[in-house]
Formats: sequence, C-alpha cells, structure tokens
Amino acid sequence: MGMFENFLPGRKAMRLAEAEREHAIKIAPSFIDEVTAPQVFHEEIPSMIEDVSSIITKTHEEKLLSKNECIRSKKLKGSANDVFLVSLDNAGSAIFKPSSGERVTIEGSGYKRECAAYFVDRFFGINLVPPTVLREINGEIGSLQRFIVGARTGYERREDENYSAYSEEEMIRMRIFDYIISNNDRGGANYIVKNKRLYAIDHGLAFQTRIYGCDNLFFYMGKRVPEDILVRTKKLLTSEKLTGLFTAELSKYMEEQEVWGVMGRLDNLLNAFSQEPVLNREKIIGLRRYRTV
Ligand SMILES: Nc1ncnc2c1ncn2[C@@H]1O[C@H](COP(=O)(O)OP(=O)(O)OP(=O)(O)O)[C@@H](O)[C@H]1O
Ligand SMILES: [Mg+2]
Repeated sequence: MGMFENFLPGRKAMRLAEAEREHAIKIAPSFIDEVTAPQVFHEEIPSMIEDVSSIITKTHEEKLLSKNECIRSKKLKGSANDVFLVSLDNAGSAIFKPSSGERVTIEGSGYKRECAAYFVDRFFGINLVPPTVLREINGEIGSLQRFIVGARTGYERREDENYSAYSEEEMIRMRIFDYIISNNDRGGANYIVKNKRLYAIDHGLAFQTRIYGCDNLFFYMGKRVPEDILVRTKKLLTSEKLTGLFTAELSKYMEEQEVWGVMGRLDNLLNAFSQEPVLNREKIIGLRRYRTV
C-alpha cells in the first residue's frame, strides 16, 4: 500500500466503517448466557417533565444498577475505549465504561456524558437510551448501562434480513435526540436493535457546544418531528422551575457552557418547529447555529 495509503480519498472513512463493523461485540455466547438474568428493562417510563418527582426517585432498573454487586466482568474486544460486560448479582448484565479506560473522549468525561444522555432521554420521555447510572466498580468510577441481551448493532441488522426493523418514527426520534445532545457519533455500531425496538448507545462524545446532529435530519425531509418532544420542549423552556431542575442536573455532568448549549439547541428546535412540525431544508439549516435573540 505504501506511504500514501492514508491520503487516498475516502480511505480513512472506509477504514473507520470497517472498524465499526468489526466492533460487533465479541463475547463468547456462553458468557452471555451465564451472566444474564431475565431482562427487566422494557417498561415504558414516563417523562420526568410530566412527573418531576421522578428526578429524585430512582426507577427499579436504576436501583439495581446502582446497588447490586458486580460479581464478574469481562473486557470487550474491538472497542476504542475500555468497555466491560459485567455481571451483577441477581440483576443481569450491564456495560461498564470506566473513566480511566477512556481514550477517545474529552478528558475522561465520557462516562458523565453517558449518564447525562440517559437523563435527557428520561426527562423528555425519548425512551431510547438503556438505563445508565454513575457507578464505582473495583475502585473505578464510570458509567454502568443495562446491557441489551441479544441486540444487533445497526450494521449487523442491515446484513441480516431476518432481523426485524424498527420504525422510521423511532429513527427520527433518535435523530432529534442527537441534535439535542449534539451527538456526532451515531454510526451503525452506536445504535442497536432488538425485537423491532431501537436503542441508542455510546454518548461519551456528546454535549459539546459545537452543533452536531443536523445532517442526518436531511434524510427525513417532509417528515414530522415527534410532537411529544416539541410539547415537552415548550414546557421546559416556559417554566423557570423546570429549567432550573433540568440545568442543575445537567451541570453535574458537564461544563456550564455545554449546559447552555443544550438550552440553545432546544430553543432552536422550538423556534423552527412549533408552528409547523415538518422537516424541511430551510429549518434544518436554521438548526445549525445558535439563535441569537
Ligand atoms: N447497553 C448495551 N447493550 C448491548 N450492547 C452494547 C451496549 N453498550 C455497548 N454495547 C456493545 O458494545 C459496543 C461498544 O460500546 P460503545 O460503542 O459504547 O463503546 P466505545 O468504546 O465508547 O465506542 P467506540 O469504540 O465506538 O468509540 C457497541 O458497539 C455494542 O455492540
Ligand atoms: Mg461505539
């Protein structure tokens, strides 16, 4: 290949895509079987906006993830950061991403961004991110997320016709979510599918102030932005109390200007879609920079 290999157009992108495909989690099936208790995460939980008290009350899943002892762990192969599949005592399996094992993140803050993404998902009732908590395991601080047993990554699903598809609406939900959290890292290895249901994972690079996540919306021109997300955005932005709670929670996980970045993008969303919640070119382009009032 020689020294110019790296400069061939599209080569790097191809290699990245290849690496992501490789990513498909490589664990011996017997290990999964052993560590897996019946899957408990499937309840549709109400949004925190509708039930503000749930900001401080943990769900059943969150309690299990926070408290149950880790009885076994195994490092997954082919991941950029250190990713462990852990077995919790009497509580199935989970994905642990310790801060110390982060390489491709912003100063080891990826685990906090994982938790923040789950919080935003819960707050808006987006319902795509598996329950995620901040957790210390064997002296290491990190994020612990419910492992979705038997899910396929987006890439694998495309290659496997038998694997059931998710709905287009779920996909649009995920794209709007990515805009809110400014996520630039939604390759086919960072969403997974099981039983016609989509799950969004890997948010360690989200919440930067630079706006990402608009371009994928161009695939959905003419489609509607999920109304419930817009209604909740309006509720949040028009209530000082909700804004206070929301920003206080986010501040636990990120810098102040990143928190205000989230608020700015929510303001953009509402401004673009509150009259006519339909995706078009002009509106999507409008989302690319923060609105100045
Ligand atoms: N909650 C989960 N349920 C099932 N599988 C998961 C879950 N979280 C991660 N995985 C699997 O582990 C792989 C690696 O996880 P993840 O993408 O979060 O790690 P990463 O090292 O931050 O990512 P990257 O290597 O893309 O930078 C995923 O592509 C997926 O196959
Ligand atoms: Mg990934």
